[in-house]
Amino acid sequence: MSSPVKVALLGCGTVGGEVARILTEQAGELAARAGAPVELVGIAVRRPDKHPELPAELLTADAAALVSSPDVDVVVELIGGIEPTRDWLLTALKSGKSVVTANKALLAEHSAELSQAADASGADLYFEAAVAGAIPLLRPLRESLAGDRITRVMGIVNGTTNFILSAMDSTGAGYAEALDEATRLGYAEADPTADVDGYDAASKAAILASLAFHTRVTAADVHREGIGGVTASDIAAARLLGRTVKLLAICERVTAEDGTESVSARVHPVMIPRAHQLAGVGGAFNAVYVEADAAGELMFYGQGAGGAPTASAVLGDLVAVARNRVGGGRGPRESAHAALPVRPMGQTPTRYHVSLDVADRPGVLAQVAQVFAAHDVSIAAVRQRDRLSTASLVIVTHSAPDAALGSTVDEIAKMDVVREVVSVMRVEGEDY
Ligand code: NDP
Ligand code: HSE
Repeated sequence: MSSPVKVALLGCGTVGGEVARILTEQAGELAARAGAPVELVGIAVRRPDKHPELPAELLTADAAALVSSPDVDVVVELIGGIEPTRDWLLTALKSGKSVVTANKALLAEHSAELSQAADASGADLYFEAAVAGAIPLLRPLRESLAGDRITRVMGIVNGTTNFILSAMDSTGAGYAEALDEATRLGYAEADPTADVDGYDAASKAAILASLAFHTRVTAADVHREGIGGVTASDIAAARLLGRTVKLLAICERVTAEDGTESVSARVHPVMIPRAHQLAGVGGAFNAVYVEADAAGELMFYGQGAGGAPTASAVLGDLVAVARNRVGGGRGPRESAHAALPVRPMGQTPTRYHVSLDVADRPGVLAQVAQVFAAHDVSIAAVRQRDRLSTASLVIVTHSAPDAALGSTVDEIAKMDVVREVVSVMRVEGEDY
């Protein structure tokens, strides 16, 4: 057995606490798998006095000093946020210490800088836990599929919003009511903004798109819409069509007619058929579809958050880093050679569902259809149901540039014959 791999743990909250527990309880097993003892030599927290469960001699409030200690080989960062975490991790990497982190917000902004620091010193940078918690997803993208050409990564990567949308779908509750329930059960944080406004999912989409398409994609490149605008009417409209609503991260390789390629990365609510495998993903679970030229379709499913599930991914990375140190190798480096341009959302092909209450008289359908035609948007399906003096009109389009679909809906909303735009949402899945 080689000499111990010495680990500094930054943060010992929901995830860090589980990492510390498993590292301690399963020290023998982990050492056997890594080829060396994996030894916890320090734990930085904000308030050491609040952690009587941890060995006092390991605790410090000075994360910067712990990172700089010559007695540390690997820094495991489970604090979160961008500063001062970025600074600490750059210091670690520049001095040859490997880093394991679950910090998607930091990676989605600064992964190029962190990777360059790792390359310069020959250190490892692993971050499996940053996307989809326990689910092994980034390693398959970085390693198992490195010989294939990935065309699409699409999935549910935020458990809080999935819990809320699942509750709205199963109980008919409105958004505010479902969010209250998620908060009461501990799924949503006191400040749920990062989840419900799609920031968390957008960071994850940036990481997924970067790995899948060998291109640097940051959170700012990801089109982001949260679930705050999803109404009980949207959910009911989806139900009428045999669909449900999910917040999806969709990363695609888009090939233009002239053969040029670009990358599209977006996060927004989507109607998907109830028969779609992502529709059956309920509660706080995550699931991600990957499509690749040779592999075809792959699906990854499991717990996307929580202390122990996320710790599983962190410890997998830690064992990989320890093995690399013992064997003298390195994990995968950043792969950004393709450097594809990021396609603006307006030019990204999408499909819309539009549900309208319109005046029930001759020629109305033709007038509405004329607006779609004027914007060069082709209609895939139309369904009409009569009410007393109005008709409910549901239109689903074929694929068109998102900007054309948006302007079509804006113009339709202003028509005299349109009493109400009941629901507008993008759709994915098989044709109507
Ligand atoms: P918590 O808020 O539960 O824990 C944060 C920890 O960081 C606490 O121990 C806190 O100390 C410590 N900390 C905060 N500021 C400092 C500081 N300045 N110096 C030293 N320590 C500090 O966070 P989570 O465990 O939930 O999340 C950690 C990371 O994992 C984040 O990047 C998050 O995005 C990511 N992640 C979390 C998942 C989850 O399910 N929770 C899932 C996937 C990823 P103290 O205990 O004293 O307050
Ligand atoms: N807040 C995130 C979620 C935690 O709800 O999925 C996991 O990244």
